[in-house]
Amino acid sequence: MKLSLDRIFELLDTKATGPGARGARRAHQLSIALGVTAMVVCTDPGVHATTGRALDLIFWIVAAMFAVEYAVRLMIVPWANSADKGHRWRARRHWAASFNGLIDAAGMLPLLAIASGMDSGPARLFGALWLIKLAPYAEALELVARVFKAARGPLTSLLLGFLMVLIAAATLAYVFESGAQPKTFGSIPLALWWAITTLTTTGYGDAVPITLAGRILGGAVMLAGIGVLAMWAGILATTFSDEMRRRDFLRTWELVSRVSFFEDLGADLIAEVARLLKPRKLPAGAIVMRAGQPGDCMFFVVTGEVSVQLPAGPLTLGDGAFIGEMALITGAPRSATVVAQTDCELLALDLADFRDLAARHADLTSAIVGEARRRSGAPPKTEPEPMPG
Ligand code: CMP
Repeated sequence: MKLSLDRIFELLDTKATGPGARGARRAHQLSIALGVTAMVVCTDPGVHATTGRALDLIFWIVAAMFAVEYAVRLMIVPWANSADKGHRWRARRHWAASFNGLIDAAGMLPLLAIASGMDSGPARLFGALWLIKLAPYAEALELVARVFKAARGPLTSLLLGFLMVLIAAATLAYVFESGAQPKTFGSIPLALWWAITTLTTTGYGDAVPITLAGRILGGAVMLAGIGVLAMWAGILATTFSDEMRRRDFLRTWELVSRVSFFEDLGADLIAEVARLLKPRKLPAGAIVMRAGQPGDCMFFVVTGEVSVQLPAGPLTLGDGAFIGEMALITGAPRSATVVAQTDCELLALDLADFRDLAARHADLTSAIVGEARRRSGAPPKTEPEPMPG
């Protein structure tokens, strides 16, 4: 019983990586796409008259699947966290009130609407909410939310500036234009419509100043609008790129700290190394490097195993090992082909960064240089290793 619940939980976990979980995820996404497409297309009277029955069938099958999914998730949620197993109903209540629980509950709205007596046409429109079920798959959405949170200070200041310009522009437009165009500029609330369309540079053209002062004001407001939007975009773009860099750095840091080769490094040096390393995921069977090709980077194995194809037979290297260092040190082509034996997580260090590291932390790279000599069969050196490059 426990095993099968764990298996169901894995299949429904949006972050699980097993082949079954990946298939279940694809099927889930496909159901959402089918359901939403059926809902959208059904609103066209022509299409509904010809293929409405088939589309209806697809829509309601998807709706029923999402109701079953909700019930299954509610059932298995205590198994998601072993600490919750003793408090099943509390865990279920907690999940039902969570963001994911509410999203899944919203997915049942078409069925609930039908059950409460609504016609199937309007009830189907609730199917648009199924798109929110894609939110847990979209890592980028989480990032966007973090960007807005991180940039809320400057964005709030900019919004205040925007409001000040908006009110000032509407007030001046009222002063200049209300006599000539009382219908469009007869009050500040009426002039606000002109001010907002001009400030956001769309300007529908339905409200246009006709006095000289009004037109000069219009030009100034348009220029101010361009400035505000440029600042808005600039703040979001820099915060977005900062957040991406921070997220990548944290991921790499976590991987670096798992590599035994770096375990004795202090926090400062780990941070420095983490900035130079780039994570790579390779599936089992992928060629990491080919004998005879030029070498432009080396790898540290975080998880998984790689096989070095040596003339004497394959040699398996696992967590904590490094490969591809010889070509960087000697400048010679790759001495052997290396294949991922299992799914692998690697950290890549490219040639320029390896040289940079060697120049600044010879103690760190001397262990790599020493191991490369041992692997190539050269006698170990007693004096310090020369800097590569
Ligand atoms: P490189 O020559 O750049 O590319 C192939 C890599 O295989 C090589 O660096 C080493 O990292 C690794 N390698 C080659 N020979 C051996 C060996 N005898 N033992 C372990 N690893 C090796």
